[in-house]
Amino acid sequence: MTTKRAVKAVIPAAGLATRFLPATKAVPKELLPVVDRPVLQYIVEEAASAGITDVLLVTGRGKTAMVDHFDRRPDVEARLEEKGDHERLAAVRRSSELADIYTCRQGEPLGLGHAVGCAASHVGDNPFAVLLGDEFVEEDKPLLPAMLDLQARTGGIVLAFMEVAPEETSRYGIASIRESDLGEDVVEVTGLVEKPAPGEAPSNLAVLGRYVLPGSIFDVIADTKPGNGGEIQLTDAMAAMLADGVPVHGIVYRGHRYDTGMPLGYLQAVVQLAVQRPDLGEEFRAWLTEFVGGRKG
Ligand code: UTP
Repeated sequence: MTTKRAVKAVIPAAGLATRFLPATKAVPKELLPVVDRPVLQYIVEEAASAGITDVLLVTGRGKTAMVDHFDRRPDVEARLEEKGDHERLAAVRRSSELADIYTCRQGEPLGLGHAVGCAASHVGDNPFAVLLGDEFVEEDKPLLPAMLDLQARTGGIVLAFMEVAPEETSRYGIASIRESDLGEDVVEVTGLVEKPAPGEAPSNLAVLGRYVLPGSIFDVIADTKPGNGGEIQLTDAMAAMLADGVPVHGIVYRGHRYDTGMPLGYLQAVVQLAVQRPDLGEEFRAWLTEFVGGRKG
């Protein structure tokens, strides 16, 4: 079976971000800067480089600044033009040129499944990508293109996995799998277990925040009852489709995934990306080395 490649992406970004309070009381975690770009921009860039230019942000109360970030700023642009700061001017314009940004509201954060369900009328009966609003992958090792191609081949659900250490399985959704002949690093998913204790996990493959889903999931989400934590879970809707015979595959991602949903992962992302930056990496690395060696306060 070969269907159309997904051309739309949905970014659920309406959660309460309790793990990052109090910073996220008034500022969405999706707008926290990693060096000089908000997390959300890395995610929209990831979608755009995979050829997706129709991006729906699922937002909630206090989150409208996320949409503003992708708008033009003629006043700022005029000032930078006057100053002859062409580099910053290009950077400011870039965020408004990446994709066509649409928004819809999730009135209450009733769960990830519910947030994705809010995209039903925008997406319609087409396959689409879901990119969680607080994680992104290495720019040089893209993941989404292979996921989109695979979904167009199977017509089913495509997930992404990362390998985790056995003692870490209790922090993630873990897949049970069997081999697949659909490509290197492709596995067939036979089940998903939420946060299994070490020793009880069916594999070491943890679900990463990227999904490519068929439009038929919207009807299933509408019928999904609140599950874990009283929330409507995307995992439950996917499990129902799996039980119904919909093919579910996963791609094992070999690059680095940045998780900015809580302070430790966020700090690691900032440091990792800062040392890679051509403009400030060298100086930052030298300072960091001295700091870690206890020679700098
Ligand atoms: P998380 O599980 O990280 O939840 O959601 P959260 O509320 O953002 O953060 P914590 O756990 O309280 O710290 C994963 C993604 O799904 C979105 C979030 O915004 C995040 O990008 N989400 C989650 C919604 O859009 N709506 C929801 O009801 C739940």
